[in-house]
Amino acid sequence: MKTYHLNINNKAVRVEAEADTPMLWVIRDYVHLKGTKFGCGMGLCGACTIHLDGQPVRSCQTPVSSVKATGKITTIEGISANIEHVVQKAWIEEQVPQCGYCQSGQIMSAVALLNTNADPTDEDIDNYMAGNICRCGTYQRIRSAIHLAAARMKSESGSREKNLKQSSH
Ligand code: FES
Ligand code: FES
Repeated sequence: MKTYHLNINNKAVRVEAEADTPMLWVIRDYVHLKGTKFGCGMGLCGACTIHLDGQPVRSCQTPVSSVKATGKITTIEGISANIEHVVQKAWIEEQVPQCGYCQSGQIMSAVALLNTNADPTDEDIDNYMAGNICRCGTYQRIRSAIHLAAARMKSESGSREKNLKQSSH
């Protein structure tokens, strides 16, 4: 056992764990955040997706010892404070989830996609989201929700720019 100092959702967290403990179990069992799901445990389904320094990673394949003390971990519970909230709203509006099990991983990947590509095509979405499996087959609604979130983000940043221009006159 070793002590690890982590930053999870902008909170300092100290855990005692074996070096090879996957972040999935650190998050769920040590930190008690249950939104990140265990699917395959082999890096194949995406249910356990979290962000490490803004990049989507499979937490079942990320040993705690590989995360630097300066690394910023974000889970589904940590994305609501800023722009990503738009993605969750779009998910609700498009009624994406069926059983819901894969959806936190889907949202984490969608947020990462929109952070790098503000206006993805269907092909971009399919390529980027290919590692997130949904056994209920909600792919069509996932696509629609990502397009909706992208449109909202675009119109929000347009109004922000307009307000900035008006306040500078
Ligand atoms: S549980 Fe991690 S990829 Fe499936
Ligand atoms: S909503 Fe059931 S697995 Fe995706």
